[in-house]
Amino acid sequence: MEINKNIEDDGVIFMSIKDKEGATAEQNKEEKSEGGVTILAIESSCDETAAAVVRNGREVLSNIISSQIALHTIYGGVVPEIASRKHVEKMNGCIRAALSEAGLTLNDIDAVAVTYGPGLVGALLVGVSEAKAISFATGKPLIGVHHIEGHISANFIENKDLEPPFVCLVVSGGHSHLVVVKDYGEYEIIGQTRDDAAGEAFDKVARAIGLGYPGGPKIDKAAKEGNPDAFTFPQAQIPDAEYDFSFSGLKSSVLNYINQAKMQGQELDQADVAASFQKAVVEVLVGHAIKACKQYGYDKLAIAGGVASNSGLRELMEKECAANKIKFYRPSPVLCTDNAAMIGAAAYYEYQKGVRFGLDMNAVPNLPLGDRERRFHGRGSN
Ligand code: KG4
Ligand code: ZN
Repeated sequence: MEINKNIEDDGVIFMSIKDKEGATAEQNKEEKSEGGVTILAIESSCDETAAAVVRNGREVLSNIISSQIALHTIYGGVVPEIASRKHVEKMNGCIRAALSEAGLTLNDIDAVAVTYGPGLVGALLVGVSEAKAISFATGKPLIGVHHIEGHISANFIENKDLEPPFVCLVVSGGHSHLVVVKDYGEYEIIGQTRDDAAGEAFDKVARAIGLGYPGGPKIDKAAKEGNPDAFTFPQAQIPDAEYDFSFSGLKSSVLNYINQAKMQGQELDQADVAASFQKAVVEVLVGHAIKACKQYGYDKLAIAGGVASNSGLRELMEKECAANKIKFYRPSPVLCTDNAAMIGAAAYYEYQKGVRFGLDMNAVPNLPLGDRERRFHGRGSN
């Protein structure tokens, strides 16, 4: 993956992600006449405005991300109104860039796909309205995509051999799910968090030890300099639900340690706390995922979501998968965090099943994973 970055005047980072071996815009145009399904995908569920053109679910013709992270850093987290307003400003530019890099126009696409939940409602509404407007103006079919199904589908982009069934650990800012991907678009949730999501725990602990926002990448970096065995933080196991997660006890334990150290006038070693905290999270995530593969009899394991870009998680998962003869799949870090290519990948399989949304599609901020019935009719749950 090659990432071209440009920081705009307002601090927003404009990124174009390219597969080095990918086709040129001219080749894409030529190939278009040979058929296939080309989807324009849109993502705006949190603080990234993103648009991508994806062919046949696995070939990314263009992938544009406009990241607002710098704007929210000063507030220590995402400010929903700022996010929505920036999406409104950036959306058309992202779509124009995605089409132009793919060498295509709206006439060349077969469908428009968009994340319609879960996420921040005001942020989601920008993408949903944009996709509906394009569908209305061009007459092209409209497909709503679940954000987490998008994250899972990011694995299909660089792993052309990956096909369901497999186990997937989904760890993002809002979700920690252990899922069996039974077929394209068919999910069985076998474990989930009882409290904080993994990414949320990273963000809260990073703030507490003074690393700031966004916490995940900062802890990841600091942990490389620290001793993971400096402290033993608790790893929660839930007796009646062995695949569920709980990170609030771990978070409290880190906060208690920090308070005690402050009271005793000790200097806090950020790197050691980061490394020990990361180890506690990663060991639970990897332990649950490997156990699920063995117990359910799957020999393929994928990871997805922002936390899946964590280097400690990737390393331990790779080691444990090799030791247990499980094939390990993970997207490149830039495809783990929010992007529209993953939405285009998920949308392709929906398109093939005949899923079409009406122009009554709405944003569903708390959309459950695998909610087939409602999705098929294009109606939200609230
Ligand atoms: O999937 P994502 O981009 O957005 C959501 O759908 O939530 O995930 C964002 C989350 C944040 O909590 C962020 O701190 C975490 O992913 N994250 C990481 C890393 N990069 C992002 N956590 C741990 N290590 C990382 N390298
Ligand atoms: Zn996400």
